[in-house]
Amino acid sequence: MKFSFGDIFKGIGKRSEASVLGIDIGSSSAKIIQLRASRGAAILETYGEIALGPYANQPVGKAVKLPPEKIAEAMKDVMREANVTARGGGLSIPFSSSLVSVLSVPSVNPEQLKRMIPIEARKYIPVPVSEVTLDWFIIPRDEGEKSAFDELNKETPVQAKSQEVLLVAIHNEVLNSYKTIAEDAGLSIEFYEIEIFSAVRSSLGHGIAPILVVDLGASTTKMYVVEKGVVRVSHLISIGGQQMTEHLARSLGWEFDKAERVKREHGLVASTAFGPDENDRIQSSILSTLGRVFSEVNRVLLSYGQRYNKNVSRVVLAGGGASLPGISDPAHRALSAEVEIADPFSRTEAPAFLEEVLRQIGPGFAVAVGVAMRKLKNR
Ligand SMILES: Nc1ncnc2c1ncn2[C@@H]1O[C@H](COP(=O)(O)OP(=O)(O)OP(=O)(O)O)[C@@H](O)[C@H]1O
Ligand SMILES: [Mg+2]
Repeated sequence: MKFSFGDIFKGIGKRSEASVLGIDIGSSSAKIIQLRASRGAAILETYGEIALGPYANQPVGKAVKLPPEKIAEAMKDVMREANVTARGGGLSIPFSSSLVSVLSVPSVNPEQLKRMIPIEARKYIPVPVSEVTLDWFIIPRDEGEKSAFDELNKETPVQAKSQEVLLVAIHNEVLNSYKTIAEDAGLSIEFYEIEIFSAVRSSLGHGIAPILVVDLGASTTKMYVVEKGVVRVSHLISIGGQQMTEHLARSLGWEFDKAERVKREHGLVASTAFGPDENDRIQSSILSTLGRVFSEVNRVLLSYGQRYNKNVSRVVLAGGGASLPGISDPAHRALSAEVEIADPFSRTEAPAFLEEVLRQIGPGFAVAVGVAMRKLKNR
């Protein structure tokens, strides 16, 4: 088993007739997408999403922790509903279950590096190295440029004495529970990938300038700064769409499921279903949660700018939370960079009549689409 990253911007590779799956088991919902490569294009064959809350007697939109057999049941249900025919593909691993660090190690050959990494990793990983699965990726050095990571190098000419390595560690227990889910659901998982790299692959086009991907999930919001195809900074906060719904429910005196429904259907757009006063209260409640997220996003933008002396030019909003109706305006106002909503299905070929719906639900599928794209490319 291997989880992997890198090669983020490589296009879809060889021609293939087989279909592949991209699977993203989030805290509130699982998404699955089936793609097929045909003459360099990724054909969207089917997709599906299933709320996990109901499998724990909780409402749709709630983040839940389910045992593997319940998740497998949900996977079987969504595969049946979406007419998924493929069985092989990739599965994303939550950022929160992984540890990503950037190490600076001496420039040694790959064999030496292989021996060195587990030893170096001990300094960064709070659990015994034997309990985790490690993977790493050498961050390409900027030609003729000073290291972006080591400000101390500023005074001295850059020599190829050290190299930066992106280290990823996943707890073996986490991998084992995914193996159980896959087995129970009749899936054949060929690789695992940390959701960071999947979201980045499907959310960004080619680009050199630093870009911030913000994944607005149910229980967490994740942020990744990507520059020249490499994830430089990652950050996670425990505010997400679930909190937005909870706040809305409290402010309006509603049950969670009503607040969830209103948030998804109307979001920040005033509705005739409510009086002016109620519309105001809905909007200010949603904006207060959103404001907390955006101020964290701005903090990441600011600290990246200060640390690396470069501005992040663009923010891409992904995750189900980015489908909030009316999110663009406050995002543009609040964030100190250009803002765009992720449109991962634009990288796939689908019937024209689906275009609008795929754009709407797209942000939530950023991870699943990214996983499938990787698999397709490797055939
Ligand atoms: N149209 C919409 N408007 C507003 N919020 C939405 C909409 N659709 C989904 N959401 C919210 O997005 C969140 C789910 O997003 P997503 O599916 O990306 O999360 P997840 O992957 O399950 O969670 P996490 O990434 O935190 O594990 C929920 O809070 C849900 O209420
Ligand atoms: Mg998610």
